[in-house]
Amino acid sequence: MSPDDLVRHARDAALSAYAPYSRFSVGCAIESVDGEVAVGANMENACYRLGVCAEVAALTAAQQAFGLERIARIAVSGGHIGSDGALAGKAVVTSCGGCRQSILEAAHVSGRDLEVIASNGDGTTMRPHRISELLPEGFGPANLKDAG
Ligand code: THU
Repeated sequence: MSPDDLVRHARDAALSAYAPYSRFSVGCAIESVDGEVAVGANMENACYRLGVCAEVAALTAAQQAFGLERIARIAVSGGHIGSDGALAGKAVVTSCGGCRQSILEAAHVSGRDLEVIASNGDGTTMRPHRISELLPEGFGPANLKDAG
């Protein structure tokens, strides 16, 4: 699948976000090594801190659909829903710190330095990065080796 196609899945997923408080819809699409796609969107809550990010929703869906170990690539997109019903926005959405940590966990499971394509709502700008770039010196399973 091309990066454009994966970003299109992320932008479509954002249309199903539940984001009445921020009015900022985020979608995430995760491609498997076999070309399957799992998606998620942010889901907010009146108790603001209980909101769930699109990336975590998509990782949960990916675990169910094909397993974290088969994740190949991730795309994230965010913005508002335009008058034509499509996701819109100029600014590229880069994953929050918590989501980077969740993606790092999936990277450890998959054994791949996962690529995360950040894009704007319009889908016109894409910025690919490896998770090791987005979260250098991240905390992972190796950091737990001295546990009792
Ligand atoms: N959000 C995500 O879904 N992913 C991110 O990586 C950044 C932020 C959501 C959380 C909240 O519902 C909205 O965007 C505004 O912060």
